[in-house]
Amino acid sequence: MRLSQRAASMAPSPTLAMDAKAKAMRRQGIDVISFSVGEPDFDTPAHIRAAAAAAMEQGHTRYTPAGGIPELKEVIQEKLARVNGLEYTPDQIVVSVGAKHALYNAFQVLLDPGDEVIIPAPYWVSYADQVRLAGGEPVIVPTTEDTGFKLTAAQLRDHLTPRTRALVLNSPCNPTGAVYSRTELAALAEAVLAHPDCLIIADEIYEPFVYDGNEHVSIASLSPEIKARTLVINGVSKMYAMTGWRIGYAAGPKELIQAMADLQSQSTSNPTSISQWAAVAALRGSQEPVGEMVAAFRKRRDLIVEGLRALPGVTCQVPPGAFYVFPRVDAAFGKRYGDQVINNSQELAMALLNEAHVALVPGSAFGYEGYLRLSYAANENQIRAGLERIANFWRALA
Ligand SMILES: Cc1ncc(COP(=O)(O)O)c(C=O)c1O
Repeated sequence: MRLSQRAASMAPSPTLAMDAKAKAMRRQGIDVISFSVGEPDFDTPAHIRAAAAAAMEQGHTRYTPAGGIPELKEVIQEKLARVNGLEYTPDQIVVSVGAKHALYNAFQVLLDPGDEVIIPAPYWVSYADQVRLAGGEPVIVPTTEDTGFKLTAAQLRDHLTPRTRALVLNSPCNPTGAVYSRTELAALAEAVLAHPDCLIIADEIYEPFVYDGNEHVSIASLSPEIKARTLVINGVSKMYAMTGWRIGYAAGPKELIQAMADLQSQSTSNPTSISQWAAVAALRGSQEPVGEMVAAFRKRRDLIVEGLRALPGVTCQVPPGAFYVFPRVDAAFGKRYGDQVINNSQELAMALLNEAHVALVPGSAFGYEGYLRLSYAANENQIRAGLERIANFWRALA
């Protein structure tokens, strides 16, 4: 069949692909430990599930406004004011089918062919493909370990051109867990403000997952000027363990939000009505479950970093945010496992899956060779067992 050029240029999400392979092995009865997928292993809190059931009973089962129900926009508005110090009107907020959808819509309505989007690497897998799907050109800027994998203002200035339409800033970051400080954000904001056509797309989906006294700062909150140039992306998927419910949102300049809502009205229509009511309960209700989850993740992070650092040749920073670790593993490259030579992170990840039955994601999927990403959204027993399998695999490398 002849498919469009657009379809031909598209790659499936490598993180989902790795998880699908792990699940297929499990269906064959193989006991795979997964560190591959970016979702909390906690259940959606009970009061949120109850709100969804009540929404069904109350007949909230019909089309809603394409950009979201007013009740949800209102709680999002309150949350942005309370938590981030950001004042928006409801027409500056759009609710989408997950944060991924909000990002997709943003690139679709912002980019023309040849427009550039700066994406610091390592980056979350979908940014570059979404930019390409919208006809834009991703400009990948590799960061370095010595800055904690953070883009510097000097690097940003070097890559800003008259064609730059956006900088994607993901803090806390998937895959590195990097968290930008207020000072670092201010320097990036200043560089962006010198380019009138450039926006910041601030993906803040891991907002509550910050550890060791680090704080999450929304770059939009630094000044009215930078707020006018920022699209804040967030959602309920990670923080309320609601990945399957598919509710994300964007807040930003009215014209951009309107265009995103219009695009949505021609594609998905509204996000699921029941999920929207569940998200109202999530944002309005007790935030205690979030705190409990973050505390559990911090312990697991320390456990997994310790286990990885014990592997000969492996180095691993302690990530200040998100729920991933990003160890450097290139010491394994050129070595053999049995008669198989490991040349890169993709081959290492596949060998770990096939031989050690541990699923994780190669750094190359995030545009950064020499590393692996492990999600520690798995319980402590699984983490210990997974680390032991990795250690056994490592010992067998020659
Ligand atoms: C950085 C980042 N942004 C956005 C998303 C998508 O979130 P959602 O499930 O709300 O679409 C993810 C999910 O993995 C992510 O890691």
